[in-house]
Amino acid sequence: MIRIAPSILACNFTELKKEVDSVRGSADWLHVDVMDGLFVPNISIGLPVIQSLRKATDMFLDVHLMIDRPHRYVEDFCAAGADMVTIHLEADQPQDLIDAIAAVRAQKKMVGIAVKPRTPFVALVPYLELVDMVLVMTVEPGFGGQSFMADQLPKIAHIAEDMVRHTSKCTLLEVDGGIDVQTAPKVKKVGANVLVAGSAVFGKANRRAAIKALREAEDL
Ligand code: DX5
Ligand code: ZN
Repeated sequence: MIRIAPSILACNFTELKKEVDSVRGSADWLHVDVMDGLFVPNISIGLPVIQSLRKATDMFLDVHLMIDRPHRYVEDFCAAGADMVTIHLEADQPQDLIDAIAAVRAQKKMVGIAVKPRTPFVALVPYLELVDMVLVMTVEPGFGGQSFMADQLPKIAHIAEDMVRHTSKCTLLEVDGGIDVQTAPKVKKVGANVLVAGSAVFGKANRRAAIKALREAEDL
């Protein structure tokens, strides 16, 4: 089963409720990009917006924390209404990452670990048994609308194979960055099962059709 998670980074924030409602029913999750201007060279949105989203929709909130030392904030994001909190492997020391993962679990929320393009598969190994999801960035995190990095495909395939081999509780493999109807089939083929898409959904007038196209896109 493929999940489509539109990223609100690409939406019109003055119409946030309308934008969210435009994907409700056809999208599976709502992807929320939190950036602190330190871990990535951009600042996006934070806790108040997630609290507002939680009041405005029953959609699954997939919160992607692109922030330095996320252990400082994961409980706050759970309390704000995230259904899943994903932290970056490069953003903290190993023990602090493990503590942050445990803190999310203690709040009975799902938890993910994200890797930037240059972080190899081997770095993920210690965390695979601890999380529900791995997020592979297919662009350098920080901005929407960038081009998909095809050199990440072997890493995605490697993670997918490992998940099957170990039949661990980590079964979700999310890709984020440059996903459109051309690149979606490539990531699906190597085992990704959650597709984040900003521009390819909120950049289109017909969101329902855009989501359907991503879900059904096949390699020619
Ligand atoms: C980038 C963000 C992405 C971004 C994707 O750092 O994590 O979620 O919104 O945007 P597109 O789909 O336009 O590449
Ligand atoms: Zn993201």
